[in-house]
Amino acid sequence: MNSNCKCHRREPVSVVRLRKSGALRAVSYMALLIGLLVISGGELLAASGVIRPGDPWLDNRGQRIQAHGGGITVWKGRYYWFGEDRSQSNNPDKRYVACYSSRDLVHWKFRGQVFVLSDPEHLGPHWVLERPKVYASSRTGRFVMYAHLDDVHYKVARVMIAVSDRIVGPYSYVKSFRPLDEESRDIGQFVDDDGSAYLIFESRPTKGFFIAQLTGDFMNLKKTCFIPAPLEGGALVHMGGLYYVVGSHMTGWRPNPNVYATAPALTGPWTEFKNLAPPEADNYDSQSTMLLKVAGSKTTTVIFMSDIWHSRELWDSRYLWMPLEISNGLMQLPQPQPWSLNVKTGDSLVRVEAK
Ligand code: DGJ
Repeated sequence: MNSNCKCHRREPVSVVRLRKSGALRAVSYMALLIGLLVISGGELLAASGVIRPGDPWLDNRGQRIQAHGGGITVWKGRYYWFGEDRSQSNNPDKRYVACYSSRDLVHWKFRGQVFVLSDPEHLGPHWVLERPKVYASSRTGRFVMYAHLDDVHYKVARVMIAVSDRIVGPYSYVKSFRPLDEESRDIGQFVDDDGSAYLIFESRPTKGFFIAQLTGDFMNLKKTCFIPAPLEGGALVHMGGLYYVVGSHMTGWRPNPNVYATAPALTGPWTEFKNLAPPEADNYDSQSTMLLKVAGSKTTTVIFMSDIWHSRELWDSRYLWMPLEISNGLMQLPQPQPWSLNVKTGDSLVRVEAK
């Protein structure tokens, strides 16, 4: 820089050039600044974006996000949130899965009702499709959706699979079955750090739930572990060398104290279950659906994703997402507060707001 200046001083012509280039430089800096603002829009939004547990969460159209009992799939730098779409305008004979995409986990773009299904197995009136989860298979290049399929009495107890060549669908129904030949109701999704994919499913007759690894093409399952605890809303995360499993007790749509256990491997041995929050809080009226690990450049945040069900008006059910407090094998769900997240650094900031 300095040597350049000396050179310019020696030749008067270059003074003009220097002035010109100074003006040019100012314009370039402005352009660069504007460019940076545009490029970093996501991060700026992330810095200003606040997650408000329990509040209506709106998508890019200003409509309520319909992704209940949902799960998140990470694909090519974006997050995709799939879940039950309970919109009031839906055809009551069909079941709908909606998809939303985001780069910051705060602002969500509606990508459509990616799976619309008519009763596929003669399940009858008020048949059930719940807790859809999508796995991205890098081996087959396909996206494989699992969901709980049932009749009105929850007696069929199967999982269904639908597939698509695009993450945003449309998805086509393939089959339903009882995983490992066991009854299966609530399902949960887990992808480990090495990319291996698992389904967690609750199986009432066995009084516990299974962790089962998806086979290579993701179209089947093999047993990894059975945990003898009758829990639903199962979710898993691998953090600091430990696996944490979370679940809720079985009280229908009503909330209850969710619990967790840990193990050094998915195959166990699992510790006793402990409360995730003070039991009188009934998990702050919510039920677990997924544990999402956001590993950033500075730190890692694990998000507890849960549903605040409004059983009479399921479309109005809310979401409770909070960063979990995890250390030395202990996991705590803090009192819900508005909070913000930077997915690049992994930092989360809980704001204690005056009432
Ligand atoms: C609890 C489950 O977690 C929900 O997904 C749903 O199946 C309700 N039970 C139905 O009562």
